[in-house]
Parts: sequence; C-alpha cells; structure tokens
Amino acid sequence: MYRNLLTELKDGIFTVIFNRPEKLNALNREVLEELADAVGQINENQAIKSVLLTGAGPKAFVAGADISEFLAYSPEEGAQLSERGQQILRRIESCPKPVLAAVNGYALGGGCELAMACHLRFAAEEARFGLPETGLGLIPGFGGTQRLTRLVGPGRALELMMTGDPISAAEAYRIGLVNRVVPGSDLLPAARELLLRIQQKAPLAVAKLPGCVLAAREGDAGYRVEAEAFGTLFRSADLKEGASAFLEKRPPLFKGA
Ligand code: COA
Repeated sequence: MYRNLLTELKDGIFTVIFNRPEKLNALNREVLEELADAVGQINENQAIKSVLLTGAGPKAFVAGADISEFLAYSPEEGAQLSERGQQILRRIESCPKPVLAAVNGYALGGGCELAMACHLRFAAEEARFGLPETGLGLIPGFGGTQRLTRLVGPGRALELMMTGDPISAAEAYRIGLVNRVVPGSDLLPAARELLLRIQQKAPLAVAKLPGCVLAAREGDAGYRVEAEAFGTLFRSADLKEGASAFLEKRPPLFKGA
C-alpha cells in the first residue's frame, strides 16, 4: 500500500497510477521513494509481465518534481535529488519488462522525464509535454537533458529546454517524443492492448531489448554533468525566486545571480 500511488495487477499488466491529483501528481520525495519501491516489486514479482504508468485525475500525468520542496534544499541536496531521480528512472529504463507511459495530461519537468524513461509513450490528445525548469531557475535533473536530446535531437531539445514552452501531444508525436496519440477515452485501452500483444511474444527475447537499445547510446558522462549543474543552481537566488514566484502565483523576477 502506498500513500501516493495506486497499483493494480491484472492480466500480467501492473498499472501504477500517480495519485496526488490536488498537486497535479507532482513528485515529492515521498512519491519518488514509493516509485522506487514499486520498481523493485516490478523486477521481483514474476506475475508482473508488463507495466503501465499513468496519472490520476483529469489534468495531469505528472506536473514535475514538487517545487515546494526546492526552497529548502542546499546545492548538495539538489545534486542528491537529481542523482536519486536519475537512478530511479534508469531502473525503469533498464527494466526487462515493457514499461509504457500513458500520458493523460500534463507531463512537465520530472513528469516528462519520467515518460521519457519509459520504453513506450502513448499520449491522450489533450496531453501537454514540456521542460519548464528554466522558468524556475533550474534545468531538468532526472536525466531529461540526456534522454530528450537522444529522442528528438539537440536542436529541438535545446529549444524545448531553453524556452520551457509546453507542446501539444500532436507536436510531441511529430518530433518523435511519443509513439502514438489517441483520444483520451481510448488511452488506457490502447495501452493495455499493446502491452497484451507484447506479452504474447517470447518473454526472454523481449526482456533482452531494453538492454540492447540502451547499449546503442554513447557514454553516460552526461548524467553526471546534469546532476552537478542541477545541484549548483541551488546556490542561486534565482532558483529561490523562481520557486517562490510559482508558489505565490506571480511571475518571477530573475537577476542572473
Ligand atoms: N510542484 C508543486 N506543486 C505543484 C506543481 C509542482 N510541480 N505543479 C502543480 N502544483 C500544484 C499547484 O501549486 C496547485 O496547488 P494549490 O492548489 O495548493 O495552489 C495545484 O498543484 C494545482 O496547480 P495549478 O497551478 O493551480 O493548476 P493550473 O491548471 O492553473 O496550471 C500547470 C497547471 C501544470 C500549468 C501549473 O500547475 C504548473 O506550471 N506547474 C508547474 C510545472 C513545472 O514547472 N514543473 C517542473 C518542476 S521542476
């Protein structure tokens, strides 16, 4: 039993629902640790054949890391948050069982990073994707700078991360960020149908694929660079200003310090 996740195992599909709809399913430390525990279960439980991640409520998949926690973090704690998030998302990415993100609404910041760590991404037509961290005085810290670049190429990745502008599901599909866009009411049925179809394939063969695909990329030094940069930004007054401005529902006034 989790406080922030709902889970269900049916037909071999383990569904994990991020369930903090009043905060748009934002990932605070508790949710992250519950997710880590769920990933452990996924690896150990033989009855789990595939995994579906989605968000509770009408608005969000996951609207990012929990900004209200940022104000209290030191640079070291910022870097630790980044490394912990990277570690959990890497375990999802390297999971031998297929993991599909069914993106039902906002997938922003850490939510977009989480979706990118999944093997497959389906989006509801109303879903929105974005990396808005520069509007807070920060950068993506859960592997997003690396995975986004690999998925959509450096030019589009930099535009998305520098502007922080969210994009529609249709645009996400156009640039290769998601596999498929479907009407919201079809999202979970379409996701389940695909996972059940994959479950009919030879499990040992399917289990080899995430590792093979991961091996296709170059070195992993970029993750360390990302975590260091993420932590360093916790020294800046601009991050305090960005996070405070969000929580106080006003525009930020950045000073470049
Ligand atoms: N961290 C903490 N709280 C968050 C959050 C986050 N990432 N995203 C949303 N929330 C909270 C809001 O503070 C609000 O809480 P309140 O009701 O106690 O004031 C609640 O969730 C609902 O969000 P709200 O902003 O009122 O909804 P909206 O429909 O007006 O806007 C968004 C939706 C997604 C555009 C807006 O919530 C947003 O910009 N969220 C932050 C996204 C972000 O920067 N993520 C990256 C973090 S690194």
